[in-house]
Amino acid sequence: MITRSLTTIISAAAFSMIVACSPSENKSTEGNDQTAFIDSLMNEMSLDEKIGQLNLPTSGAFTTGEAANSNIAGSIKEGKVGGLFNIQSAERIREVQKIAVEQSPHGIPLIFGMDVIHGYKTIFPIPLGLSCTWDMDLIEQSARVAAKEVSADGIAWTFSPMTDISVDPRWGRASEGSGEDSYLGAQIAKAMVKGYQGTDLADPNTIMACVKHFALYGAAEAGRDYNTTDMSRLRMYNDYFPPYKAAVDAGVGSVMTSFNEIDGVPASANKWLMHDILREAWGFDGFVVTDYTAINEMMAHGMGDLQQVSALALKAGVDMDMVGEGFLTTLKKSLEEGKVTEADIDKACRRMLEAKYQLGLFDDPYKYCDVERGKQEIFSEKNRKTARETAAQSFVLLKNEGNILPIKKSGTIALVGPLADNKENMNGTWSVAGQVDKAISLRKGLENAIGDQANIIHARGANFVSDPELEKRFSVFGKNTHRDNRSEEAMIKEAVQAAQKADVVIAAVGEASEMSGESSSRSDIELPKSQRNLLKALLKTGKPVVTVLFTGRPLALKWEDENMPSILNVWFAGSEAGDAIADVVFGDVNPSGKLTMTWPQNVGQVPIYYSHKNTGRPLPDGQWFQKFKSNYLDVSNEPLYPFGYGLSYTNFDYGNLVLSADSISMDGTLKVSVEVANTGDRKGKEVVQLYTRDLVGSITRPVKELKGFQKIELAPGESKIVTFSLTADDLAFYHQDMSFYAEPGDFKVFVGPSSAEGLEADFSLTK
Ligand code: BGC
Repeated sequence: MITRSLTTIISAAAFSMIVACSPSENKSTEGNDQTAFIDSLMNEMSLDEKIGQLNLPTSGAFTTGEAANSNIAGSIKEGKVGGLFNIQSAERIREVQKIAVEQSPHGIPLIFGMDVIHGYKTIFPIPLGLSCTWDMDLIEQSARVAAKEVSADGIAWTFSPMTDISVDPRWGRASEGSGEDSYLGAQIAKAMVKGYQGTDLADPNTIMACVKHFALYGAAEAGRDYNTTDMSRLRMYNDYFPPYKAAVDAGVGSVMTSFNEIDGVPASANKWLMHDILREAWGFDGFVVTDYTAINEMMAHGMGDLQQVSALALKAGVDMDMVGEGFLTTLKKSLEEGKVTEADIDKACRRMLEAKYQLGLFDDPYKYCDVERGKQEIFSEKNRKTARETAAQSFVLLKNEGNILPIKKSGTIALVGPLADNKENMNGTWSVAGQVDKAISLRKGLENAIGDQANIIHARGANFVSDPELEKRFSVFGKNTHRDNRSEEAMIKEAVQAAQKADVVIAAVGEASEMSGESSSRSDIELPKSQRNLLKALLKTGKPVVTVLFTGRPLALKWEDENMPSILNVWFAGSEAGDAIADVVFGDVNPSGKLTMTWPQNVGQVPIYYSHKNTGRPLPDGQWFQKFKSNYLDVSNEPLYPFGYGLSYTNFDYGNLVLSADSISMDGTLKVSVEVANTGDRKGKEVVQLYTRDLVGSITRPVKELKGFQKIELAPGESKIVTFSLTADDLAFYHQDMSFYAEPGDFKVFVGPSSAEGLEADFSLTK
């Protein structure tokens, strides 16, 4: 956990501000440590005020500038609000903080939060895209940039990182996570917490992170958002918990509960989850906030009325109630009726005050409202450059037959498709503070790159989908899809005419930004027909067609993979999307992203993931189908694109896999080295991946598990020896009794460019 020096001294100015509006005269803070300070404050707080600290409303009227008159302002004055979220701008936040500090009973500052998920104003790629960089420094830096921007604008707390593992691309929120793998997810969780929180939470340009959604939210049945989850403890511990735990180990200050149930009990009332696991087993000592109205939703789950579910939540370990006001309106009654104790309320209140103390809000409640720093920091050239470089690293080249990509900055380029000229859909989902009108569209990016060296002809070509009702459902939050009311035939005809005049065609197709994200589950994850028809017509022109694919999730692209010569997947790359795509399309940057979620051939294969179990009837390698084996009649078991996959404009060869020994002991270290050579004619980056397989276990083990990766850069003709270390700790797993250790025995190790290719060797672990 974050530890601020226990001898931190509350500044005299802040102290006088607190006592000036406090009815009490005897609160001495100078020289006190956190515990003494909070003890003394809590001694004076009424029960109502303590409960008020547990209340987190959304900003409501504040965002429209009615701060002084809104109901929330009244509640703040009465000490009924602990924090506020999704209010923007240093000036407004200062105004609201002033109400808390100067007019509430004890002048306790509010904690201001926001969903800063992949950037504040400078938007980075959606988290799923970011994970495809496999670059922990870049990922940490993206969180650092976000923290620097938002902390100047009044915010001290972000609801990120989202570390929910998902193996189901139907789930729209797969876009917000880091994919299917717990090992990679854990590394990313750590990097993001470090990026947001830095080394000192009290530093004015760091913010508190909140790992979410605890737990298992990504395992919603059938990929339908908010749906039930149900899984074995073994799977939870081995596959779903590691990223949350990594965030806790990295010192994350807060944890958000999930909407779903776990073992039959909704997360927000799940004492086993929040107490036994989070606090006891993992040692978390920050605070727990619910997700949006998650306490109230437990009524619909069938857990009782508002009073009952609120008491259950507090008893289970929730400290802060987001939006629902269950705590605010029922805890006093529950206390009178003996359903909760004063100690339960005190515990939660103390945790909220500790967080504010650690952020330094008692020292200076306005420390995050720095208009001058904001002017330097927010959406700066420097941050935008970082976002552009990061975006280019997140793109995954899925196919490049005949090396169509990169294309030349000359001649005539036909640019078609619903995402060709749409800046509003570049930022991607969960970019609440991003300014859609400032994002760089693909068209603008290409124009910036070519100057007057080439000519672009633009045609819309197709709408996102044919059905206008469906389109309305995802044309939200200012992410205008600019539906074109011409007939589909007319749009295609215009695009074909543009293609015929061009040397090369760029088809910008895929999802609109809000076709993934919260409450955006899809049962059909193929490219919509309107867009596929456009691709078919473009192919018929015989011109080379480059597909630039936008998506927030893996899609089922079997037809496109079979027919389109080149596919560059660019996710939703953020405010600099267009420039970053141009960098890769024209070859100024060589693509190096690798998938972090398996792409299925069709939706019927879902859930699909590389680290599956072997089953008792595995299909022999290289076979398509065998009767009475674990397979389908109508599709092979193979994914379309495996986990870890991604091409480059150059080629990498793997050779000389060498192990330092045939076996290692429980305290030994195995060195695994491989030689990787760039055999192409361009400089490029490669993510070298190491997987193991534990051949015999006391429980069944996955066919492959990622245990290490390194991203290297090689000049043409250059080669490098890449060395990994493996110890028994890396081979450990949770057993039926939830103990965690490695079992002696035989293992395979694989090193290669993806989960599906590479060199292999054997070793054993001895007692
Ligand atoms: C989402 C959370 C988010 C919260 C606050 C909820 O609907 O599930 O991820 O942090 O809203 O905006």
